[in-house]
Amino acid sequence: MAFAASQIVRGFSSSAVRNVVIKNVTIIGGGQMGAGIAQVAASTGHSVTLVDTSDDILKKSIKLIEGSLKRVAKKKFSDKPEAGEEFIKKIVKKVSTSTDAESAVQGSDLVVEAIVENLKIKQDLFSRLDKLAPSHTIFASNTSSLSICDIASSTNRQDRFGGLHFFNPVAMMKLVEVIGTPATSQDTLDSLLDFSKVLGKTPVSCKDTSGFIVNRLLVPCMMEAIRLYERGDASKEDIDIGMKLGAGYPMGPFELADYVGLDIVKAVIEAFKTKDPKNPLFDSSDLLNKLVAEGKLGIKTGEGFYKHK
Ligand code: NAI
Repeated sequence: MAFAASQIVRGFSSSAVRNVVIKNVTIIGGGQMGAGIAQVAASTGHSVTLVDTSDDILKKSIKLIEGSLKRVAKKKFSDKPEAGEEFIKKIVKKVSTSTDAESAVQGSDLVVEAIVENLKIKQDLFSRLDKLAPSHTIFASNTSSLSICDIASSTNRQDRFGGLHFFNPVAMMKLVEVIGTPATSQDTLDSLLDFSKVLGKTPVSCKDTSGFIVNRLLVPCMMEAIRLYERGDASKEDIDIGMKLGAGYPMGPFELADYVGLDIVKAVIEAFKTKDPKNPLFDSSDLLNKLVAEGKLGIKTGEGFYKHK
């Protein structure tokens, strides 16, 4: 009991201090994930700077945020459309945009990177930002499949570097995986956990292992489903029904692969394979490779394992 009480006091006071610390957030990459993270950070009172490579892309990012907020406002203010408009305006006002990452990070408490899934490009970005961000600034990557340790190695702030892995769509999905490397300090981990809670998310912690928790289990499951189908053991429709009705999955593995994007599934399993070449769960699939080569990437291209018209 005494232990529990002291934990509560400790948790309360430390998070109060830390919440003051993370006020200004810079998000690099205004795509699906970056725009979503910007939306939830702005909705919870943070000042957000969203960075991408061109003003045109950033305009689309703001449109994405507005579209998502419209859906929230429609539910929240169904009988008061003006209050809904006000709600959207107030949140969007908290998001400024920039194509200059180096300047953007100078007033930032936290930098969340959500750019293209490429180690070298992420390393180059963080190496540049490391020279300009204030010393207290925490760096975090939203990578799905790369090692946080490898990305952080391009900086001189490995103690203030962690993973902050959001799920798609960010505004809807409650989970955030907070990843610490052996060099990440406990203060940094606590700050990232607290920040996730302030965003209204439920954080879980994980070491810097391929796929963290969720993708480490989910992606091999998708690959096993593809292999089961490739061997002709069951149809994709029956596998999807089986996992929905038998395992309580909201989507079957083929439906999920089409939703995530087959190119992403392929990239993730290849990244796992690079780290652990002998693990048969990470073997590639001829069928998956063929669909990706044909540009059948799932919902985003209108066809993947299923047709989406
Ligand atoms: P996306 O392709 O929708 O967006 C990436 C954005 O980054 C683009 O707008 C691009 O112009 C921009 N960008 C690329 N290089 C840049 C640079 N050097 N500086 C500034 N901006 C740059 O990608 P998405 O889906 O948002 O993924 C981003 C990251 O989040 C990746 O690391 C991905 O693995 C991870 N992720 C993706 C999830 C998903 O379901 N799509 C889920 C969780 C994590």
